[in-house]
Amino acid sequence: MKILAIESSCDDTAAAVWANGQIVSNVVSSQLVHEQYGGVVPEVASRAHNERIYSVVESALETAGTDLGDLDAIACTQGPGLMGSLLVGFTFAKSLAQGLGVPFIGVHHMRAHILAHFIEEPKPDFPFLCLTVSGGHTQLVKCLDPLDMKIIGSTLDDAAGEAFDKIGKMLGLPYPAGPALDQLAQKGLPIFDFPEPQIPSLDFSFSGLKTSVLYFLRSNLNKDPDFIEVHKNDLCASVQERIVSILINKLTKAANKTDIQHIGIAGGVSANSALRKQLAVKSSIEGWHVFLPKLSYCTDNAAMVAMAAYFMYERGQFCNADARPDPRLKW
Ligand code: KG4
Ligand code: ZN
Repeated sequence: MKILAIESSCDDTAAAVWANGQIVSNVVSSQLVHEQYGGVVPEVASRAHNERIYSVVESALETAGTDLGDLDAIACTQGPGLMGSLLVGFTFAKSLAQGLGVPFIGVHHMRAHILAHFIEEPKPDFPFLCLTVSGGHTQLVKCLDPLDMKIIGSTLDDAAGEAFDKIGKMLGLPYPAGPALDQLAQKGLPIFDFPEPQIPSLDFSFSGLKTSVLYFLRSNLNKDPDFIEVHKNDLCASVQERIVSILINKLTKAANKTDIQHIGIAGGVSANSALRKQLAVKSSIEGWHVFLPKLSYCTDNAAMVAMAAYFMYERGQFCNADARPDPRLKW
């Protein structure tokens, strides 16, 4: 049983092979070209996917020791994501599947992030609760089964990763700012107090935090033009502490409300060291079983798409010949 999976929803071109119950190759080519623009430029991203897709897929097959003729199915992220980026991977994968005469599976990117928990041991039991935090999404998901997942909370404005990236940009960090902010925060102290939004539901909001950091920086830069440079590490630590506390507090509320103790985190922001640390602290207090996919399965990758495709293959969830990518693919 062999599946080739492709992921190209944003700025990473990725391919992976699932064979006989495990991931046997996982290739990711990240597009560093966007750093100079301070964000992903959609046209540049789709062109870069177009240039790389063939070699990335070839490398995934080669590492797996698999020929095209050995494949039982081909899968690709169908959405959500950037249309031009999705189109490159989806068209490539669908054409390949049609040419080989094997089933084609269209995978939801955010569901794949969650199903990354099933690539390696230890795996959560169902039902489990997943905090899914990426550059485009922030969701609390109640997972009842690999293909039955309910969103019980989501962001009303910016995603957590977007908050890291936009505030990091204000602090002069390169795009995407999350990893750099995480590094600098480890050298600083959370001495600046930024407000936590008071939202009674399980939904999140990060735009207030972004605005309060902006006004705080403006007012301090008026008094001292070197304020950011002098306090960069402490600013990073303070912002990170607040984003993490917003996430952990909502997760706690959701765990209490649903009475679920198996907790997972997924998406690029789940690589954040403070979030991982706080989760460990919280789990010992609350008695949670916490599941953290390894870092390479947290940020965008095709192994998670292959994992999701495996579950869909088992239940015969295949795409028709007229399937198209959808930047706003429904849950
Ligand atoms: O899941 P992902 O790779 O792509 C999307 O689907 O969006 O997530 C990318 C996001 C970016 O916002 C990036 O800054 C953030 O994940 N990120 C981090 C860390 N590593 C990646 N944010 C905070 N701390 C990190 N260590
Ligand atoms: Zn993602």
